[in-house]
Parts: sequence; structure tokens; C-alpha cells
Amino acid sequence: MPELTPQNADYKRRIRYKGTHPRRFEEKYKELCVDKYADDVQKVISRGQTPAGTHRPICVKEILDVLDLKPGMIGVDATLGYGGHTHEILQKILPDGKVYGLDVDPVELPKTEARLRSLGFEENNFIARRMNFAGLPQLLNESHCLFDFFLADLGVSSMQIDTPDRGFSFKLDGPLDLRLNPQRGFPVSSIIKTLNSEELAAIFHDNADEPWCHVIADAICKYDGPVTTTKQLASIIHSTLTQRKNVNPDDIKKSQQRVFQALRIYVNNEYGVLDQLLNLLPSCLNPGARIAFLTFHSGEDRRVKKAFQDGVRNGIYSSIAPTPVRPTNEEKRSNPRSSCAKLRWAIKQ
Ligand SMILES: C[S@@+](CC[C@H](N)C(=O)[O-])C[C@H]1O[C@@H](n2cnc3c(N)ncnc32)[C@H](O)[C@@H]1O
Repeated sequence: MPELTPQNADYKRRIRYKGTHPRRFEEKYKELCVDKYADDVQKVISRGQTPAGTHRPICVKEILDVLDLKPGMIGVDATLGYGGHTHEILQKILPDGKVYGLDVDPVELPKTEARLRSLGFEENNFIARRMNFAGLPQLLNESHCLFDFFLADLGVSSMQIDTPDRGFSFKLDGPLDLRLNPQRGFPVSSIIKTLNSEELAAIFHDNADEPWCHVIADAICKYDGPVTTTKQLASIIHSTLTQRKNVNPDDIKKSQQRVFQALRIYVNNEYGVLDQLLNLLPSCLNPGARIAFLTFHSGEDRRVKKAFQDGVRNGIYSSIAPTPVRPTNEEKRSNPRSSCAKLRWAIKQ
């Protein structure tokens, strides 16, 4: 047995898995160790997949074009995630610029901060803060200046989706949680117990335009026992909709996606905090500051579009994106998670 020396004290035996290839998230030890297995990780990316425990930033070139960054600028990445966009931004604003990277996720934020520090970015250029972007004005007490740029890449990161314990994906079995900050509030499994069929149907309809909202809500409420796992909820939707005529497996999968999206929006109050941010954002920006919002579904995009259009009408913004910028076909092919992304921009008057 090797001696436990300071050099090998951190050594952990990799998880054993059945068969020839790791399948579950925690078994993908090579993808979870990007630095050590760079070639293997590259192969995963070239297959159009996102390596476990990472996130591939979307529309990077388009966002950098929109933000028109210069050395010395100070601004905010309101959705730090894996830090992919922040990393690119930092390289444009050094040596004197600064990015405040915000995220509500207490699990991923420390890892991202440590990763960026290990790449050499120090507190004078990069500050990580665990906070909701709806509280942006509070950051002004710390920055003592208005911001020159602002980025929000809405929704969830691949690390969150792919970690079964977080309960975001119906493809993986895990607790039905879906909170961006699992240290606050209650998981979806507790919340759905308190809602009646009408209330659940309204969530599915209002947050994701689910056409079978009433049928699914009824099935959840009539389910024999508590719904505590992602697979349980996915299978309730599946068995309810397979009994319907003219509903094919593709439709069922889309309904499962929409129901999970609707519950995620609800449990994290995503529309509430986005509206608050869009309202407060102009007061946090310098004249000429540039804003970029990456959205992933119509509920988000509608809100950003309307706030920008109102802003132009009221003289808050001097110009806005006439139509959303979309990822290139090549990016959609190489990273299918980018396919529904829409980028909207605005320039502060
Ligand atoms: C799509 S990911 C961002 C990925 C990031 N741009 C990158 O390159 O890695 C969205 C992130 O925003 C965070 N987030 C979502 N809503 C938030 C909010 N209201 N305030 C702060 N962070 C939020 C999520 O926890 C998640 O980490």
C-alpha cells in the first residue's frame, strides 16, 4: 500500500462502473478532471457533447462584438456559471479592468472562482459574488462606480443540468429539487405537495405553454404517494400522455421538458427576478454602456425584448438589437445546447 505523503494525500481511487464505459455523471472521471485528461475531454466536445462538470459558453464571439470591450472597463457578468464568458471578457479588459461575476449557486460558484484564480486572475480584476442579479444595485456600494458593460446568460449551466443530485433533468434520476440555490427555500418535491391541480396547471401553462397542462396537473395530484424524484415525475407525464390518442413519443418528451422548465422557473422565481433586473439595470450603467442578454425560451426573450423596446421609447437606451442574434449553424451543430439561444443587446443612452 503506498504511503500517504503530502504528494499523494489527495489521491482518490476512481469510482468503479459496470461495463467498458462510464455512463453516470459521477463515473465520468476523465471529463470531471479537465486538466489531466485534456485530449479525452476534447473528444467529448468534438462529438457535440458537453464534458461532465463543465459548461461551454455560447455565442462568445457575438457577445464580445456586442460588448465592444476595452482595457480598463468595469462591468458585470450576472450569471457567472463555469466562467467561460468571464474568462473571455477578462482577456479584453486587462490589465486594469474588472469583472464582477455573480451567481446564486453556492455549489458551483466556489469551484468557478477557484478555477479562475488558478488561471491567474486576482481580486483586482475578478470578483466573485454569490448573489441574485435582482440585487444588482447593492453591488454599486462595493464598486463605487457605474458599470461599462453587463452580460446575463440566463437559465441553468450544464453542470447544474448534468448533476443528478440537483434534480434539473428528467433524463437522470435524482431528487426533484430544481433550485439554483439549494440552501434557500424548498425543493419542487415539497412545493408540489402544497399546490392543487388548478395551480399546477397554471404554472405549466404560464411558464412553458404546456398544452397538456390540466391533464398532467391532474395526474400529479391523483398520484398515489408523494412525487419525490425526477424519474417519478417524468414517468407520471409519460404514462398519462401515452393513454392519449395522437400523442407520439416526441410530443411526450417535449411535455416532460416543458413541465421541468415550468417548475424550475417557478421554484426560482425566474421571471420575477428577471423583471426586477430589467427594471433596475439602467440605473447601474454609465452612458454608452453595452448590455447583452442570452435567452433560451420565449418567456425570457419576450421580457428582454419588451424592456429594451420600452427603454428606447423612454430615452433610456440609444439603440437596441433590431432582431435577436442567433448562434451560427456551426455552433448549433457542435453544441446542440446552444440551438435555441437568442442574443439581444442594448446601448445605454
Ligand atoms: C447558462 S449559465 C451561465 C454560464 C456562463 N455564462 C458560462 O460561460 O459558464 C447560468 C448561470 O446563471 C446562474 N443564475 C441564474 N439565475 C440567476 C440569478 N437570478 N442571479 C444570479 N445567478 C443566476 C445559474 O446558477 C447558472 O450558474
